Amino acid sequence: MTLQHQPVLLDDTIQVLDPKPGQLYLDATAGFGGHAGAILDRLGPNGRAILVDRDASAIRALTERFKDAGERVEIIHSSYLEACERLADEGMLVDLILLDLGVSSPQIDQAERGFSFRADAPLDMRMDQSQSLTAGHVVNTYPQIELERIIRNYGEERHARAIARDIVAARPIETTKQLASLVRKIVGRSGDIDGATRTFQALRIEVNSELSQLQEALPILTRLLVPGGRIAVITFHSLEDRIVKQYFDQESRDCICPPKQPICTCGHHATLKKLLNKPIAGSINDAINPRARSAKLRAAAKLTPKPKEV
Ligand SMILES: C[S@@+](CC[C@H](N)C(=O)[O-])C[C@H]1O[C@@H](n2cnc3c(N)ncnc32)[C@H](O)[C@@H]1O
Repeated sequence: MTLQHQPVLLDDTIQVLDPKPGQLYLDATAGFGGHAGAILDRLGPNGRAILVDRDASAIRALTERFKDAGERVEIIHSSYLEACERLADEGMLVDLILLDLGVSSPQIDQAERGFSFRADAPLDMRMDQSQSLTAGHVVNTYPQIELERIIRNYGEERHARAIARDIVAARPIETTKQLASLVRKIVGRSGDIDGATRTFQALRIEVNSELSQLQEALPILTRLLVPGGRIAVITFHSLEDRIVKQYFDQESRDCICPPKQPICTCGHHATLKKLLNKPIAGSINDAINPRARSAKLRAAAKLTPKPKEV
């Protein structure tokens, strides 16, 4: 099977990041290198890139794709949170950062990875296949109340209680199809959306700690930027987008005290300037990559830190 991933919002991402020759680019979710390849082309022969992914098959694809790039490209097999912590500890500074979140098309297309309910496969859903927590473990061992919380909060699923109850009653649940049909019996279909979509999203977020990775990494990624450096984030569901929106809103304000407080006591200074007033949305008519329909791109530039008052 040829594994291919069509980069989402590629032209818009290049426009907001505005890569210049000789710059250093950090792609924290490099996947199959679609964004990275296009950006490296614009960085020219003196530009460099650090490419991070937690998925071994993405790392193999990146290694093959950039095998002739020599020292221009460093590839790191790690979660982006660990990678950016390490780079920050080393005092690294970069000009451009991209986070293109979620799963790649090849991850979904490899049925055995268990991300999709369209094929029958074990309940896996790990982006990093060396980690021990799988979707099967969550489904078959988590207490009912915890399953309900995950499905409600990460899937924004209003039938979470009934789904959690029926999962616990039906244990063990071994495969994606078994789980999907159990969920569909409760949820039914709404329009184009399969009833199992939200529950599968919730389990994937839990298995891969997707929201906590994002929340914890954003301030570290900001520290990694040179003044004037740019960060772009592409999200695929409202929970991720809310985290990025709130972070950019907060970091573009000089004071984050509660609005009714008469005097500022927070000592906070803006670290970022938003580059887009509203996010750029992916095309709902993208026939090549249906994931683009839910994509949202936000971007910001690092401000020059204010001198400390004495
Ligand atoms: C949408 S794809 C990126 C596609 C890439 N921009 C391209 O053009 O090929 C998302 C990638 O991020 C990786 N990923 C998701 N969360 C991650 C994390 N916390 N740390 C590292 N990689 C992550 C996934 O394994 C996947 O390969």
